[in-house]
Amino acid sequence: MMAWKVGGALASLLVLIWVSNSAAVAPASETAPARSAAAKRETWRRDYRAPTAIPFPDANPYSEAKAELGRRLFFDPILSGDRNRSCASCHVPALGWGDGRGRALDLSGGDMELRTPSILNLAWQERLGWDGKFRTLESVSFFPITGAGNMNLPVAEALRRLSEDADYARAFAEAFETSSEGLPQAQTRIPSRATPVVTQERVEAALATFERLIVSRPAPFDRWIGGDEGAITEAAKRGFDLFNGKANCAACHSGWSFTDGSYHDIGTATGSDIGRGRYFPNAPALRYAFKTPGLREVSRRAPYMHNGSVPTLAAVIDLYDRGGIDRPSRSADIRPLGLSLSEKADLAAFLETLSSEPGRVPALADLTADTPRP
Ligand code: HEC
Ligand code: HEC
Repeated sequence: MMAWKVGGALASLLVLIWVSNSAAVAPASETAPARSAAAKRETWRRDYRAPTAIPFPDANPYSEAKAELGRRLFFDPILSGDRNRSCASCHVPALGWGDGRGRALDLSGGDMELRTPSILNLAWQERLGWDGKFRTLESVSFFPITGAGNMNLPVAEALRRLSEDADYARAFAEAFETSSEGLPQAQTRIPSRATPVVTQERVEAALATFERLIVSRPAPFDRWIGGDEGAITEAAKRGFDLFNGKANCAACHSGWSFTDGSYHDIGTATGSDIGRGRYFPNAPALRYAFKTPGLREVSRRAPYMHNGSVPTLAAVIDLYDRGGIDRPSRSADIRPLGLSLSEKADLAAFLETLSSEPGRVPALADLTADTPRP
């Protein structure tokens, strides 16, 4: 510790000496760009601090009983027609909560239209789905459950199965019919024949509560913005500067989970799926607009994009470097970047720092042990 302090003091002394020497032979303005680059980096670093608590909506506040019920439902194949699939069949914790496939596997063994997105850090996002078809996290669940090629279970059958399972019936009653909802007991204990214990709304509320707890773990990047200069390499730091500067990535991949939660055409997609554009036929800018994915754990979930069309991170960077297809819908923030080979490598090194240590991807045990609690 002491040795480090002495070293640090020596190093700053040397810098001072160097600065004053060079100032003597060159105009002072020559050192200004370096100084302003460092100042910029400091400002950017502040923009990426992770929050300390998970937000829950007023309409579906956190309770431990609800989260635990949601966890059970998420991993239970009872929610699929043939009892062969659960949410975790596609949102696999060890694969960054995606499935590692270009496109999701449908029940007949073929490919669905879309790639399974990671479900990390969704508590901070409103609109969901590659094309923004879901308004809330609650509203997503029955889309895969009832999807014919997906889990293929009608709503009524799902509710019947869960009500007939004594364990589940008890868990639903505990999660929703105690005072944990903030309502007086008397008010929630209205005759149970009129209000079934298991309802679609409650399944949605429990699953969403669990899903809001799926938060990325601290990565080397977080240690660096927390002040540990040795946590990431110099190449990664230069990559961070490019991400926020010349390469313009932060125009869309902003904030600690690296998404603006919005929809853009990055000039890559072709074909019949026009993304968000299908809901807005009169808004040409939304043709081929897809959701900006967060970039936490990104190096763990190739292939990339809504259709899995880009195999590696290096290929993603090449694509942005070329600037995509020049067309009216392409975002004004996408343009050819003119990155050198070493700049591309720096950018890739930076993206790698967003993954937590190997073996430390959020897993089921982690979620019950040390996930930040509200
Ligand atoms: C067969 C694979 C598969 C299964 C099983 C599955 N999903 Fe998904 N999930 C997907 C795909 C593909 C999408 C993208 C759908 C879209 O954008 O229209 C998706 C999207 C989502 C999203 C939106 C994520 C975002 O970033 O926009 C959530 C939340 C989600 N799924 C939760 C669940 C839950 C909860 C279950 C279980 C009830 C489940 N999924 C079961 C493949 C699957
Ligand atoms: C105009 C907004 C915008 C800019 C600027 C932008 N991105 Fe993206 N990014 C997106 C969108 C939208 C997608 C999803 C596109 C799709 O699925 O077809 C995406 C996808 C990605 C993916 C794939 C993630 C995944 O899980 O599939 C990576 C990696 C990525 N971007 C990195 C970058 C980098 C690096 C830069 C800077 C060179 C950058 N982005 C600039 C909006 C943007």
